[in-house]
Amino acid sequence: MQQIIATYQQSFAHQAAAVHATPSRKAIEDLRIAWLGRKGKIPALYQDLKGVTDGREKGLLGKAINELRNTIEAAIADLQAAGARAVLAAQLARPPLDVTMPVSAGSRMGSLHPVSLMRNLVVDELAKLGFSVFDGPEVETDFYNFTALNIPENHPARDMQDTFFIAEHPHYVLRTHTSNIQIHAMLQEKPPLRLVAPGRVFRVDNDATHTPMFHQVEIVVVDRGISFAHLKGLIEYTMKAVFDSSMKIRLRPSYFPFVEPGAEVDMLCSMCRGSGCRVCKESGWLEIGGCGMIHPNVFEAVNYDSETYTGMAFGFGLDRMAMLKYGINDLRQFFNGDYSFQQQFPLYSPR
Ligand code: PHE
Repeated sequence: MQQIIATYQQSFAHQAAAVHATPSRKAIEDLRIAWLGRKGKIPALYQDLKGVTDGREKGLLGKAINELRNTIEAAIADLQAAGARAVLAAQLARPPLDVTMPVSAGSRMGSLHPVSLMRNLVVDELAKLGFSVFDGPEVETDFYNFTALNIPENHPARDMQDTFFIAEHPHYVLRTHTSNIQIHAMLQEKPPLRLVAPGRVFRVDNDATHTPMFHQVEIVVVDRGISFAHLKGLIEYTMKAVFDSSMKIRLRPSYFPFVEPGAEVDMLCSMCRGSGCRVCKESGWLEIGGCGMIHPNVFEAVNYDSETYTGMAFGFGLDRMAMLKYGINDLRQFFNGDYSFQQQFPLYSPR
């Protein structure tokens, strides 16, 4: 065995020198496996050692094998470090990536996220009607997100369950809806006002059909003589424009503190067109958002004269609409960053 160990010392030195001369990740790994791997030479030596009966000889041989193993481990670690340095040096030696280089159109065209496609579709459609696009902060004070929207202190929407509060800043929240933009816009502009305001919103909610961040769009009109009929007409117009002219909507009376009267908005199930299926739980309808006539208390908060003006507001979820329009069945696909999912979509909104 003494003899074998001595031969091994030499043959390893040879092999390591050869790898050192032309290092590659594979050569280093092959060397490591041949010597230290589970079926490598060193473990085999330890196996053979078990058969040695003479205690003194066993001790000496064990020591020699340990030394050989240490030498090999150190040499391979050195090779690995040198290999990593060589890879880095080769990368640095290559010319840098030129992001301004033109690419050939076609295969590498790029695409927009389906939620962006849906947002653009809605915004473009309303822009044609003379609506302006408004934006608002995602980190918001409770005044804009709640108080000015006639949501009193004890309203359940303020509960920890729904709202992300900002630690150490008791009056700040992650906005729970895009309705905060109503307040920013009305404080900034005098009526008449026509706005469309898409954006991210946040709620403490996470399961197959809810994500803690999602997207809404808010549509607001304030003018003299705005009525519930205008509201219903605009919602129907928008949904027909986004889907097709056979799309139908339905309003169900509901409560939102910042509107009176208020309603929930359903659209015809885009999968079964009303006949009933799994997606709409056999009802033929899908809930997409809320709407109503702006509450006089909201006008008061922004110094609009509620005797002269009336207003309508409509808010709905963009993610849900994108899923229905583009036939996506799992909400989580929007947010897991899978490029092959993303690549199925075009750069421009398909109509
Ligand atoms: N902001 C409401 C929500 O997030 C929706 C809504 C908007 C309702 C506008 C009425 C008017 O649920």
